[in-house]
Amino acid sequence: MFITIEGIDGTGKTTQASNIVEFFCELVGPEKVLWTREPGDWTKGSLIRELLLHSELKHLHSELYLFLIDRCEHVSGVIMPALQKGKIVICERYTDSTLAYQVWGRGLSLQKVEALFAWSGFPVPDKTIWLDMDVREALSRVLSRGDQDRIESDGLEFLSRVRKGYIDLQGREPERIKRINAEGTIGDVKGRVQREMEPLLNGIR
Ligand code: TYD
Repeated sequence: MFITIEGIDGTGKTTQASNIVEFFCELVGPEKVLWTREPGDWTKGSLIRELLLHSELKHLHSELYLFLIDRCEHVSGVIMPALQKGKIVICERYTDSTLAYQVWGRGLSLQKVEALFAWSGFPVPDKTIWLDMDVREALSRVLSRGDQDRIESDGLEFLSRVRKGYIDLQGREPERIKRINAEGTIGDVKGRVQREMEPLLNGIR
């Protein structure tokens, strides 16, 4: 099973990913669960992550290609081997991030980017948890953490377009992408996420 966690910056993806991972570890055992993230969670991934988040890229397409190289290596070296061993893979950010940020956010062609996904053979997640919240609230959380990366520092207008991307993507694929209200306490959000996980358990128990 392949589960992805999505949302604009500051929505608490890592915290909720950790809850989901714990939940599945208790259910099937930690050896059957893989927790990973994009960009950068493969052997040389920190090199691409550094280029993506902290360098001045001049060509409009460079950012897209770097995310795609990162995903190609992550899919073939990490995600696919785990899925082939029958593991449950929980991945923070994946193809929907590229669509929301590079297509809706930066204005690249949806058709072309989706064609690149298909050509690269990226597996489609079984379920995507989209943590959604007001853009101002999310941004103020990011700002309070200090230390912004290049993409986060693009600001309110950019993140509003990205959020619109997630809204549209969910509208296109309501069965796969589940919207979770990410406002409230960590416990509130955890409860909401867990309710979305319930239907998936039938295949496991
Ligand atoms: P990261 O610090 O990993 O994300 P988060 O803020 O969720 O902890 O930084 C990743 C940044 O890269 C984030 O701003 C989203 C962006 N991103 C894209 O623009 N496209 C993509 O395909 C992916 C995977 C991430």
